[in-house]
Amino acid sequence: MADRPVIEVEDVHKSFGDVHVLRGISFQVSEDQTVCILGASGDGKTTMLKTLMGVLPPDSGRVRILGEDVYGLAGEEREDLRRKIGVTFQSGALLNSMTLAENIALPLEYHTELDDDTIATMVKIKLQQVGLLHAANLRPNEVSGGMKKRAAVARAIAMDPKILFYDEPSAGLDPIATASLDKLINDLKTSMEITSVVVTHEMESVRRIADRVLLQYRGQVLLDGTLQELLDSPSERVQRFVRGDIESMAVSSTMLKAYHQDLLM
Ligand SMILES: Nc1ncnc2c1ncn2[C@@H]1O[C@H](COP(=O)(O)OP(=O)(O)OP(=O)(O)O)[C@@H](O)[C@H]1O
Ligand SMILES: [Mg+2]
Repeated sequence: MADRPVIEVEDVHKSFGDVHVLRGISFQVSEDQTVCILGASGDGKTTMLKTLMGVLPPDSGRVRILGEDVYGLAGEEREDLRRKIGVTFQSGALLNSMTLAENIALPLEYHTELDDDTIATMVKIKLQQVGLLHAANLRPNEVSGGMKKRAAVARAIAMDPKILFYDEPSAGLDPIATASLDKLINDLKTSMEITSVVVTHEMESVRRIADRVLLQYRGQVLLDGTLQELLDSPSERVQRFVRGDIESMAVSSTMLKAYHQDLLM
């Protein structure tokens, strides 16, 4: 088991009705790595991530997490594996009626038998880890976008997961908040030995956090390698993505749409 990849994806296919979104995706992620999934909007990155999380079974193919067939497990075994995985969704998804501390306590209350004092201490540790101890008693609508993202990360790490999935963690954040979130992602990798899969379109983030990148194109893996290999790739399609992505950081949504059409030509 020593060198077995933490995540193994084998020829995964997924359709929604007539739309064949994932068309034979295979890749592996080793322990303690951060892998960034890149690709055009609508290509199926969130779909891929949900398939990895165990919430969206593929039509065919296999997903193994920590050596276990994610969709072959049931009951207690499935719950055990689920506890080793932390997720932050594209929208953040904190409950507005609760404080940040209460939001972070939720998974601990749900998954453990710990008493209230122990949970309160653990919540404090998590808040401290993401730099939000001072905001424990604020509600999500009383904090900034960057703080919300950090709180979502604190909730995702509440159960000390081995693996974290992030869907567009820096969407809607300014460059400074993005850099600070990237630092948090890197800190968690070092301090908690977490393996991460991050869907992002921010090339600056990729530069800072990625050990490896996976470029998804039309539901398949177009490139699987280091950022340098992506940048140096002789493939015209890859280069179009790289150019488009860097430009897209400063362009309007109409231009973005044109770029996506261009990419799909
Ligand atoms: N539950 C669903 N039912 C039907 N179609 C879906 C469902 N989820 C996703 N799709 C479709 O699958 C395709 C891929 O969607 P997905 O959200 O995975 O893309 P994405 O790469 O994450 O895009 P973005 O970068 O905009 O977040 C889209 O055409 C979408 O409409
Ligand atoms: Mg998405």
